[in-house]
Amino acid sequence: MMILGINGSPHKKGNTTYALKYALAQIKKTGFETEYIHLGEKKINYCMGCLKCRSGNCIHNDDMQLILDAMKICNCMILASPVFMGQITGQLKTMMDRTVLLRVGGTHIGEEFKLSGKIGAGIACGGFRNGGQELTLQNMHTFFLQQDMIVIADGPPFSHSGATIAGDTYKDNLGLKTIDNLIKKIIRTLEKINK
Ligand SMILES: Cc1cc2nc3c(=O)[nH]c(=O)nc-3n(C[C@H](O)[C@H](O)[C@H](O)COP(=O)(O)O)c2cc1C
Repeated sequence: MMILGINGSPHKKGNTTYALKYALAQIKKTGFETEYIHLGEKKINYCMGCLKCRSGNCIHNDDMQLILDAMKICNCMILASPVFMGQITGQLKTMMDRTVLLRVGGTHIGEEFKLSGKIGAGIACGGFRNGGQELTLQNMHTFFLQQDMIVIADGPPFSHSGATIAGDTYKDNLGLKTIDNLIKKIIRTLEKINK
């Protein structure tokens, strides 16, 4: 099983990178495969809303294709974003819009989307406690639901909206615990689904 981590930060070595790599390192220890994608290093054009994807292909030829390929084969997707103006980054939103073509094919009752039934979980890193982490996670959850995925949060004992970091990730022990719980919840859910 493969868990895909997508980093929506423009920074290569910032707090979101630390948080997501911390999460993926823990997952790897349990024997699951992981893949890491950093949007800051990718060229992703805006969706132009032309709906040409309804006939199979996007008009853009950029790095989105490799991201779509990874999404299609993963069992779980972790999105990680810094909080920018109380919400996800523009990089992450641009990527989300470009996944609209993964919904193609689910137009009749009973048909599924390409990401239907996969697990989705989020990590939000803000400069401040209560800086918008919850809305940032809800942005991600809305995306997962639009893709007919299964949304999970950080599980007991906290079980709120997912993993949240305030300030420097490596110093935020409580925030790191929310990542630990999120990982445990992901593993438990994958094991239950694939029994
Ligand atoms: C344009 C911009 C907007 C930001 N808005 C918020 C915000 O609304 N709430 C918050 O807590 N932090 C905000 N921050 C701070 C970042 O979320 C924080 O520094 C985060 O740790 C950066 O993650 P990174 O190092 O992975 O880029 C903002 C930073 C920038 C550059």
